[in-house]
Amino acid sequence: MIIPEVEGARQADGARPSTAPEGRTAPPPAFSPERARRDVPALHRTVNGHPLVWLDNGATTHKPRQVIEALTGFYGTANSNIHRGAHTMAREATEAYEAGREAVARFLGAPSPDEIVFVRGTTEAVNLVAQSWGRGNLGPGDDILVPVLEHHSNIVPWQLLAKATRARVVPVPLRPDGQIDLDAYAGLLSMRTRLVAVSQASNVLGTVPPVREMTALAHRYGAKVLVDGAQAVAHFPVDVQELDADFYVFSGHKLFAPTGIGALYAKPEILREMAPWQGGGNMIESVDFTRTTYAPVPHRLEAGTGHIAGVVGLLAALNWLTSFDRDAVAAYETSLLDYARRALTALPGLELLGSAPDRIAVLTFTLAGHDPAAIADWLDRDGIAIRAGHHCAQPALAHYGLHSAARASLALYNTAEEVDRLVASLGRLQQSG
Ligand code: ALA
Repeated sequence: MIIPEVEGARQADGARPSTAPEGRTAPPPAFSPERARRDVPALHRTVNGHPLVWLDNGATTHKPRQVIEALTGFYGTANSNIHRGAHTMAREATEAYEAGREAVARFLGAPSPDEIVFVRGTTEAVNLVAQSWGRGNLGPGDDILVPVLEHHSNIVPWQLLAKATRARVVPVPLRPDGQIDLDAYAGLLSMRTRLVAVSQASNVLGTVPPVREMTALAHRYGAKVLVDGAQAVAHFPVDVQELDADFYVFSGHKLFAPTGIGALYAKPEILREMAPWQGGGNMIESVDFTRTTYAPVPHRLEAGTGHIAGVVGLLAALNWLTSFDRDAVAAYETSLLDYARRALTALPGLELLGSAPDRIAVLTFTLAGHDPAAIADWLDRDGIAIRAGHHCAQPALAHYGLHSAARASLALYNTAEEVDRLVASLGRLQQSG
């Protein structure tokens, strides 16, 4: 993959990046963040008297005007509940909602929109799988394999399920570089393994695990694989069929869509067998005090009125994100990550966590003599937003002997100049003592 140059990037020593051979100018980058930046109004505000530098994309992303306009447009002129009403606006809202389902299926490479269930986000999707598929398929002595790098939302629901079914949650260890130890993983798989729950990208180490290989290994034992795509979907193209994932989950708000909307994909033969996990309207075929029957999937798993405007916003976000060349975006982010790593590691006392070769643009670090919360506070005074704390991934931090760390997480609209501001501010913090 060709890594384009970061527009305007400077080396940590202030020199311009590599020049093209024989004095020719380098070809223009396949992706430039400027168009993306123009679309996102929140990036143009100031914070504490400084232009905002948003480096908290792992927590949530800012929204392009296309998403904001879709939301105001829906509430301003198109608001209606779906499915139930026999009137024009109900029909229009239903069409918009189902168009969102089709867009998610296309985005994930799923064969059909019928395999997409709308949920509030990744956490709800994992809980749905645990409570519906898990309770129906796990029993005493069964194993759920969960890598140590997982977010709490891909650990705790399995612990709750294990408690209810007397199954076991088995941690899969990491290598020192933060990649999953594949040999250990292969050794932990057995005929008792019912499920492997793995992230496609770690929110704290940035590690991109070899999910395709892990899925193939798990399937040899008849185990199912849930892939948590929360941190992956905004960064590189996903194809659930290529991954051979049994379940794939993600949140809209981490890919430029509103909060409160996300999706679950499941293979059709698995989804069809999944029992309702919440009861209510929308998910039934007929209700009687002697016998209630349920709607087919995906509706059986969507009780109550969903986040209709959220789906409309998600559709707009997917259209926006896929209007860019996604391979070029991934290459741009990789080059920005490399640039940021070089610049940050030049700061004395700064240690980056995780060095696996495959990573998304997440930079989690410690700075000698400074508490992560104090680092975040200092940067905030310079208008730079990062996250500090345990990042809802305490086992991953414990792997490095830490309880807390600072994290800068990048997105397609970040620039080398913003990285320069982060590094300069951290340099000043260090000099301040
Ligand atoms: N999962 C989000 C993060 O990593 C909240 O910050």
